[in-house]
This record gives sequence, structure tokens and C-alpha cells, in this order.
Amino acid sequence: MLFPLAPEYIGYADSGLDEEMFVSVRPQIELLPEGQFKYHVDFDNLTIGDDIGMICVSRPTNPTSNVLTDEELVHLDELAQQHSIPLVIDNAYGVPFPGIIFSDATPLWNANTILCMSLSKLGLPGSRCGIIVGN
Ligand SMILES: Cc1ncc(COP(=O)(O)O)c(C=O)c1O
Repeated sequence: MLFPLAPEYIGYADSGLDEEMFVSVRPQIELLPEGQFKYHVDFDNLTIGDDIGMICVSRPTNPTSNVLTDEELVHLDELAQQHSIPLVIDNAYGVPFPGIIFSDATPLWNANTILCMSLSKLGLPGSRCGIIVGN
């Protein structure tokens, strides 16, 4: 499982079946005015070898609030399709749910993505209810 943009959601940490299951890539960090910054996928250093069976991103990411741009997501989708591996998009409470993402973000799904959405923050926190859209 490749996380192309670290840091990723801490909740994934204990979900692997063994210690070597996850690999991640450091981000490019764009410095913005007033001490702000934005994480970007470092595509120049993103290697997808034979040991990678799946790519996973969260959008938005918890707790960094990073939102992958549409261009980054499309690029990751293209890479996943080129390597015949699925792209897992952990959308959690993101688009099309309202009031979470305040930047332009277009939902993406196709036959090669596994799109995950959570209903837990919509009044069902105890039930941990989710929706998975996949082929
Ligand atoms: C990125 C991300 N994925 C998954 C989850 C877990 O969702 P759930 O509350 O349905 O267990 C969260 C929860 O905050 C999250 O932020």
C-alpha cells in the first residue's frame, strides 16, 4: 500500500496485517504567505514498483486538512491505471458532503478507484457507517 503523500491519516497506522505493508513518500511543501503552507504530491520522487499493489489517499486528510488538488488526484488516477492497481480515495466527509472542504475539489471515481465515504459525522457516530463505491 503506497501513501503518495505523507503525513497521512493516523487511523491507518494499526490497520496493516504486517509491519512492511505501508510505504509513503514525503511531500513537497509549498510555503504560502502569513506562515501558511500546502502539501503537494512529489511526483518526481514517486516510484511505483512491483511491490506496490494499491495506492491510497485521504481527501481531505486528517489532521493536516490537506486537500489534494483535482490535478494531483487525476495524475494519481492515471498512474494507478498505468500500473493496473487500484486507487483508494478515502473521501471520509469530503465532497459532495457540504461544509468540510472550502477549496475547489471535484469528486473523482471510476472503475479503477475504490471510493470511501463516511456517514459517521452525519449523526451516526456510534455506528461507524460508511459507503464504499468500487468495481
Ligand atoms: C481521512 C479519514 N478516513 C477515515 C476516517 C474514519 O471514518 P469513520 O468515522 O467512519 O470511522 C476518518 C475519521 O475522521 C478520516 O478523517
